[in-house]
Amino acid sequence: MKGFWKKRKVLITGINGFVGANLAKSLVHQGASVYGLIRNYNPYSFLYFEKINKKTTLINGDITDFNLIKRIIVEEGIQHVFHLAAQVEVGTALEYPYLTWESNIRGTYTLLEAIREVEMNVKSIIIASSDKAYGSYPVEQLPYKESYPLKPEYPYDVSKACGDLIAQTYCSKEINLPVIITRFANIYGPGQLNFSALVPDCIRSALGHSTFIPRTNGEHHRDFLFINDVVDLYVLMAKKLSNDKSLNGQIFNAGSNDPIHIKSLIIKIFKLVMDPEAFTNFKRNIKFPNSKIHGEILFQQMDFKKISNSFKWSPQTQINEGIKLSIEWYKKFLIN
Ligand SMILES: NC(=O)c1ccc[n+]([C@@H]2O[C@H](COP(=O)([O-])OP(=O)(O)OC[C@H]3O[C@@H](n4cnc5c(N)ncnc54)[C@H](O)[C@@H]3O)[C@@H](O)[C@H]2O)c1
Repeated sequence: MKGFWKKRKVLITGINGFVGANLAKSLVHQGASVYGLIRNYNPYSFLYFEKINKKTTLINGDITDFNLIKRIIVEEGIQHVFHLAAQVEVGTALEYPYLTWESNIRGTYTLLEAIREVEMNVKSIIIASSDKAYGSYPVEQLPYKESYPLKPEYPYDVSKACGDLIAQTYCSKEINLPVIITRFANIYGPGQLNFSALVPDCIRSALGHSTFIPRTNGEHHRDFLFINDVVDLYVLMAKKLSNDKSLNGQIFNAGSNDPIHIKSLIIKIFKLVMDPEAFTNFKRNIKFPNSKIHGEILFQQMDFKKISNSFKWSPQTQINEGIKLSIEWYKKFLIN
């Protein structure tokens, strides 16, 4: 499998997003010809910051544009697809569900239907679902296992679950596209510019570029994954799926199986960034609202035995190390 990616034609939807840009960087380094769909130009994206844009072919357009997607797959002879484009902000989804349904549900079936229709012998299609698709389970039933029924409640979570179920249809015997569906925990690390996500929000504030206002009482728990672990996994999954039909239609969780108390994570990040005196002041003054969180799941924890057995994968980056690496990246990024 050495040199597997050399000259392979890969399409990444959402390439100027956080995960897409990091994945593009890795695939470009491994010699792939990377094509990326971009809806919103963002000059601050990791893609431009790391100058990966110059080593990829970028195509403007929307994931719901059926003819465009068909044209890209046929004209570029795409062999591998990573579907990452999505409206990912939980708050935006609560406010504008329609936009979220369009990108996350219609976007997913548009892509899969386009691939089905062109009959181009695409070798692997990785569809990013999410841990949010499971919805809320009692703590005693956690961690989530792939066999658990999806029972989401909130708009973002429902949109990911719908895309997930639609993708399952496309790898059924009747249609038989080579699809793997991923349900990953919260991802963090260099290049994450969604500052409504906790880790970037805290690091930016701790570095003095904004004021941190806790949105919630911090009494919820989340499972986290560092971006490099996710990228390694995506690359590995697509490679194996191309040669192993038994992986077709499989669903995989990934996470740490070690959920973190959100209030403790906030304190940890500020402690890692600030000098002792500033940190003491921060701790004295921070006020978490008493109100319960609204529109979000309270406790998430991922079982990753299945992915570990199939790919010999386990997360390599512990949270302290991942946060330190992230802080170093945001220091460079935020002074630009
Ligand atoms: N970041 C996480 O914690 C996490 C965890 C689990 C799953 N996921 C999933 O992984 C994928 C990537 O997440 P991310 O963190 O990189 O998000 P991101 O917001 O950084 O990137 C998403 C990209 O999709 C693009 N996009 C949105 N709607 C589009 C449309 N209609 N047409 C074309 N492009 C469109 C956005 O412009 C953006 O570039 C998403 O599907 C997300 O649901 C993310």
